[in-house]
Amino acid sequence: MHKLKIMIFSFIFFSNCSGIKQATILAPLAPTEIKSEHESFGEKFMIASQGRNSTTAGKKMFKLGGNAVDAAAAISFSISVERPQSTGIGGGGFMLIKTPAMDEPLALDFREKAPLKAHAKMYLDKNENIIKNKSLNGIFSVGTPGLVAGVLQAHKKFGKLPLHIVMEPAITLASKGFKIYPELDRALKAKQKVLELFPSTKKIFFRNNKVMKLGDLLIQKDLAKTLETIAKKGLDGFYKGWVAKKIVKTSKKYGGLIRKNDLLKYNVVNRKPIKGEYKGKVIYSMAPPSSGGVHVVQILNTIENDGLGKYGPHHPKTVHLVSSAMQQAFADRARYLGDSDFVRVPIGNLISKKYAKKIRESINDKSKKIKSVKAGVFKEHDETTHFSVADSVGNVVVSTQTINGWFGSGLVADGTGIVLNNEMDDFATKVGASNLFGAIGGSNNLVAPMKRPLSSMSPTIVLKDNQPLLALGTPSGTRILTCVTSVILNYLEHELPLYDAVAAVRYHHQWSPDEIRVDKPGFPISVKKELENKGYKINVKNLGCSIQAIVYENGFLHGVSDPRGQGMSYGE
Ligand code: GLY
Repeated sequence: MHKLKIMIFSFIFFSNCSGIKQATILAPLAPTEIKSEHESFGEKFMIASQGRNSTTAGKKMFKLGGNAVDAAAAISFSISVERPQSTGIGGGGFMLIKTPAMDEPLALDFREKAPLKAHAKMYLDKNENIIKNKSLNGIFSVGTPGLVAGVLQAHKKFGKLPLHIVMEPAITLASKGFKIYPELDRALKAKQKVLELFPSTKKIFFRNNKVMKLGDLLIQKDLAKTLETIAKKGLDGFYKGWVAKKIVKTSKKYGGLIRKNDLLKYNVVNRKPIKGEYKGKVIYSMAPPSSGGVHVVQILNTIENDGLGKYGPHHPKTVHLVSSAMQQAFADRARYLGDSDFVRVPIGNLISKKYAKKIRESINDKSKKIKSVKAGVFKEHDETTHFSVADSVGNVVVSTQTINGWFGSGLVADGTGIVLNNEMDDFATKVGASNLFGAIGGSNNLVAPMKRPLSSMSPTIVLKDNQPLLALGTPSGTRILTCVTSVILNYLEHELPLYDAVAAVRYHHQWSPDEIRVDKPGFPISVKKELENKGYKINVKNLGCSIQAIVYENGFLHGVSDPRGQGMSYGE
């Protein structure tokens, strides 16, 4: 039972004062600038996103009589403009939609696809060595974008408002511009060397030969024109016509693989979501080509019967058991996960309670050594974005969207303002090769024409008694699925108020590297010592997640946009 139930005002008070059980161990909340925009309460609707303008775009849709999907579509296009470092119409994503009429959510897959001419050895030289950065920067890193197709499909099926109304806030934001905020400034600085390689990119993000900086006004005129074309022509505005021609022309200019047919053949897939159960609550999350849902459920299954709620989120016993479950999940991820349209993924086995029992029995009191957990890992980056939307009648939309690394490939398709993704880097460039994260690629995730690269994105909806309870997700590469799992545990198992469940220090174990990575400032010293005695290496380094969560509580909607970031939650 959550402690804070009676009145909304007492809820806010306790929530921010951390009404946590005395006996539990909890590290300090992550250092943050607490701002009121990060937490909100409402009775009619709720939004949590990583962009203030984008949350406002969603709010506008509700005010105009739109529904949660109209808001989600408006946020998707707006966040494409507001966070060009994280996501955009040159990328892709996943979306779960649940309406009261549905038994289970619809899971839309609009992940990028490898071009028709792509092949498993495209990132290797003639000696089969990996060509450095080929899957990361420039045209060869680009998968055929899916975001426009996915969002338009959701809007067409469920939206109430016309497309031009839904897209208006994004078009206005792109043409009028907005001031560069600290997270965008950091990304621009970090990626300037790649961005300046391409004149089409430089034209947008540089002034007088210098990368734009904090407080400068970022106007994206070409992007506004592209968005206007989509608003008028729908799908054809992106996948046919002048925008498509410009994407193909840019691809040819740099010797890339994307052609007219890649765009024409792009398809959105309705997947069956992954379904799990944790102590009577039903968890729905994304299916392959994301690994997210499978492993969120696998980790929760593994520790379900340990009664960790008595110890608290940062007790050595909790951290040890959860980390061991994470370690196994990542070993399995490398071995089995990939695009299920191309490879067999044993989903049923991985999410079964029987397998979880076996994993739990293999965990003793010490950390497992890397060699004793069979398999390898994969690759990914820590950008991306997530938003959650919900309304009082039980319509819920959660979507995680990405262009992969900061500014994706770094390449803007000439004259379109579209920052093209570098999602191809989420494939294994070679079996057994380590990636940027020291992780190892598996054969199920090798490149093939029209295949979708493996993801960790985990848009998740939790139901209680068949009604939506919790909706959440986050960016941050491989950490996505562990951050989502941690917040579910914090809320359901440790019974933290939502704000604290999101703000609490989080940790991550991905088997390779063999360490527990923990948000600053790390675990309390006594916990750290005990974990080290169990054989763990502890690396204090922020996980980079930015959870956007909504819960239904006591007749209210309660939203939290991770206080680590610059997003905003808004509800009425
Ligand atoms: N590119 C991040 C992910 O798909 O998980």
